[in-house]
Amino acid sequence: MGTIVVVGTQWGDEGKGKITDILAEKAGLVVRFQGGNNAGHTIVIEDKTYKLHLIPSGVFNPGTISIIGNGLVIDPEVLINEIKGLEIQGIDTSCIKISDRAHVIMPYHRRLDTLEEEKRQIKIGTTKRGIGPAYFDKISRTGIRIGELINPEEFSLRLKTVLESKNEIFEKIYGVESMNFEEIFEEYSQYALLLKDKVADTSILIDQAVEQGESVLFEGAQGVMLDIDHGTYPFVTSSNPTAGAVCVGAGIGPGRIDKVVGVVKAYTTRVGEGPFSTELFGELADSLREAGGEYGTTTGRPRRIGWMDAVVMRHARRLNALTHLAITKLDVLSGLPTVKICTGYELDGKVIKEWPASLGVLEKCKPIYEEMEGWTQDLSKIDRYEDFPPQAIAYVKRIEELANVPVSIVSVGPGRNQTKFLEEISF
Ligand code: IMP
Repeated sequence: MGTIVVVGTQWGDEGKGKITDILAEKAGLVVRFQGGNNAGHTIVIEDKTYKLHLIPSGVFNPGTISIIGNGLVIDPEVLINEIKGLEIQGIDTSCIKISDRAHVIMPYHRRLDTLEEEKRQIKIGTTKRGIGPAYFDKISRTGIRIGELINPEEFSLRLKTVLESKNEIFEKIYGVESMNFEEIFEEYSQYALLLKDKVADTSILIDQAVEQGESVLFEGAQGVMLDIDHGTYPFVTSSNPTAGAVCVGAGIGPGRIDKVVGVVKAYTTRVGEGPFSTELFGELADSLREAGGEYGTTTGRPRRIGWMDAVVMRHARRLNALTHLAITKLDVLSGLPTVKICTGYELDGKVIKEWPASLGVLEKCKPIYEEMEGWTQDLSKIDRYEDFPPQAIAYVKRIEELANVPVSIVSVGPGRNQTKFLEEISF
């Protein structure tokens, strides 16, 4: 009984899917609250690998209700394909519920994402899934919500008006062909029919579950450094991947949140453009990328690689009020003679410990590193955490101290059994 939020503490891809999947075993509901199919969560169960972009990672637990909350932007085609893909593999998808207030990613959003990115002098490196343009329409009050999509009259009316203005942009600003109303209406009406039965007021479902003493898990996508308010703006996504967004993105009050688990990779990665203070280049970056399989789940892009950054961790702790840390991919660091952690930045002869808002200031910051002894043993094959080499345990302890959050989980491989619980995280 209670609620747990799982969030990313870096630039996404920390392994939230795996941690969510494990915690979801005891959850009655698993809820996504922001983002869209820019996310890619990989889950390995027995010898099967599943990749999810929209559906909460709890879908693998029979009986658990998977909720796609109002804070998401949903590409219906992607969602339908994901549902079909799971059904082919024998996974029950009848427990998936979609908020009637979530916004729909339309084909003009995907097209605009590409056109806008091409036009930008300084690229963001978006996933081109239409995420930013869909959130733009939501805030501009020109979005189409799932509730409208499934109502043919409302959908037709809304689409007509919105498409008119989008077509003006396509023709007059980008000099490209306009989009056809009938084609979009036809295609999306088919999607609406397939999704209709899963649409609900999900805020009510969550509230009822909490009232009845059910355990609810909220699954974040991306990470704090990609947060539209608190990340490396403008090199960010268009939503808030921080724990506070659970309230608006799922439709619950702040008092409902009990615990917040921050997932942190044992080193740092980032896809797309933007600042990355502890970034590594050359052989070491390449070998860690290969060892960690650091290629985007959604776009396949190679991820940028760097050392652990305690400045980022402090930022994540404060913004999310983290109660637990889950360290992932510690096994990837095996075999390095030394490992480094950035403890702060040097700026004009002074040490700073907090992430600055200005990218100009950040450019002048030099990471200050603490070097620790590495280990050679393959951690992925060691059963008990107590049997880990002392250097690996010391590294975990140091992260805990610098982040000032207890480490409760250490993960050393994709499998469910490659997860060490240092303390239980109970609902
Ligand atoms: P968008 O979310 O597609 O608009 O992309 C904005 C930025 O966020 C780009 O740098 C993307 O690479 C990054 N991004 C978005 N989603 C994820 C994710 O799930 N993992 C890692 N990076 C992401």
